[in-house]
Amino acid sequence: MKVAVVGTGYVGLVTGACLAEAGHQVICIDNNEAKVASLKQGRIPIFEPGLEQIVRRNYDQERLVFTTDVAAGVQQAGVIFIAVGTPALPTGESDLRYVEAVARTVGEHLDSAYRVIVNKSTVPIGSGDWVRMLILEGVKQAKVPVTPLGHEADPVTPNFDVVSNPEFLKEGTAVWDTFNPDRIVVGSDSPKAIAIMRELYQPIVDREFAEAPGAPVPFVVTDLASAEMIKYAANAFLATKISFINEIANICERVGADVSEVAYGIGLDQRIGQKFLQAGLGWGGSCFPKDVAALVHTANDYGYDTRVLRAVVETNRCQRVRVIEKLQQELKVLKGKTVGLLGLTFKPDTDDMRDAPSLTLIEHLHKLGARVKAFDPIVSASGIREGLSNVIVETDAYRLAETCDALVLVTDWKEFRNLDFEKLAQLVNRPLIIDGRNFLDRQALTKAGFWYVGMGR
Ligand SMILES: NC(=O)c1ccc[n+]([C@@H]2O[C@H](COP(=O)([O-])OP(=O)(O)OC[C@H]3O[C@@H](n4cnc5c(N)ncnc54)[C@H](O)[C@@H]3O)[C@@H](O)[C@H]2O)c1
Repeated sequence: MKVAVVGTGYVGLVTGACLAEAGHQVICIDNNEAKVASLKQGRIPIFEPGLEQIVRRNYDQERLVFTTDVAAGVQQAGVIFIAVGTPALPTGESDLRYVEAVARTVGEHLDSAYRVIVNKSTVPIGSGDWVRMLILEGVKQAKVPVTPLGHEADPVTPNFDVVSNPEFLKEGTAVWDTFNPDRIVVGSDSPKAIAIMRELYQPIVDREFAEAPGAPVPFVVTDLASAEMIKYAANAFLATKISFINEIANICERVGADVSEVAYGIGLDQRIGQKFLQAGLGWGGSCFPKDVAALVHTANDYGYDTRVLRAVVETNRCQRVRVIEKLQQELKVLKGKTVGLLGLTFKPDTDDMRDAPSLTLIEHLHKLGARVKAFDPIVSASGIREGLSNVIVETDAYRLAETCDALVLVTDWKEFRNLDFEKLAQLVNRPLIIDGRNFLDRQALTKAGFWYVGMGR
């Protein structure tokens, strides 16, 4: 099938590359010229394991092309994905200006052939109908083509359906997630559009590219609003699970229990499960904060006060500064002290720093007069420095350790487990480590000479 994906970020690029790998003809479109130019040269603008190989392979085999030209994509494709960003406005509401711009532009370039227009961006409930309206406005705004004889051609008869197809991939395992999804959700009331989406995803439903064979991937068909709600409800639930265990961690600290053992004990209950029960310094990233905020905002728009979700957000806000409280408990005055952060990204195996807890820590440490150093396996090497002014970004963990009064493990990068902690303990000013993810081996660190402080243990 011929597919266009508008927006070539974490979601759009992975979706486009994986659909090409699955045998479709894909045009990836982005209005960032530098990004498109670098993709054409085989350079992947984001760090995502396994992505580079499939982008290169499909680009070389001409199943995947990159362009800045929306018209080219719209005219050639039968399925058009909208995968642009929907960041949060200061009010918590989603900023839909990118979706709006794309929807109008798509409308301007439609002809009378049938198209499925797929909202993959996470958009507030009800956006499917809004996107439909914008496309229709785009159709009206389009210049009426002129025939070679100088007559105006017939106006375009809009012939499309809008479908919601929320994305559940996780940064760091996005390619794997796309080929091994827990479910594919499609929201639409058009049997024709649903049939096309089913055909598009059939190789993935059949697990042709999955790690292991298995039962077909559940293909969940709903109405538009329910599909949009599934995305928000999933992220809100996961954020709730983390805030819940962080609250339990804070109680554990007071009563002398160990939250890791508690999480294991409750996670064995199949109704609860082990995942998303790692206590730590709070959730962040490009999705949870904005999606929970958007759901709260939508509920408020409809006169409903989301008491649980407000508490989830507030618990997370406090959790992010628990590390500061722990540093103050251990070091007392932070002014003039040097704190070294191990990890900056919001999770391992990504270069994404959007709303990362590290940024909150940096802000608080600077306010309190501390000097901040950091080492992150990807950020240090990539040259990303947004939000890191006044942070000394080191090239390895040993250089980071020099002159530090405390180390804080912020991101659970696997390689941090293999550091030579005896060497680190020699290099630091003071062998204090706050394990913000309960990720390191407390006994090994203590043996290496560190004073180890975890979360909820
Ligand atoms: N990142 C994730 O892990 C993830 C997971 C699930 C869902 N989502 C959702 O998917 C959507 C995209 O997220 P992302 O992380 O990929 O965003 P992103 O910021 O990485 O990528 C968005 C891309 O869209 C491009 N763009 C913006 N306006 C455009 C236009 N008018 N024409 C063409 N391109 C345009 C930008 O240049 C950018 O490359 C969001 O709604 C997000 O909530 C993200």
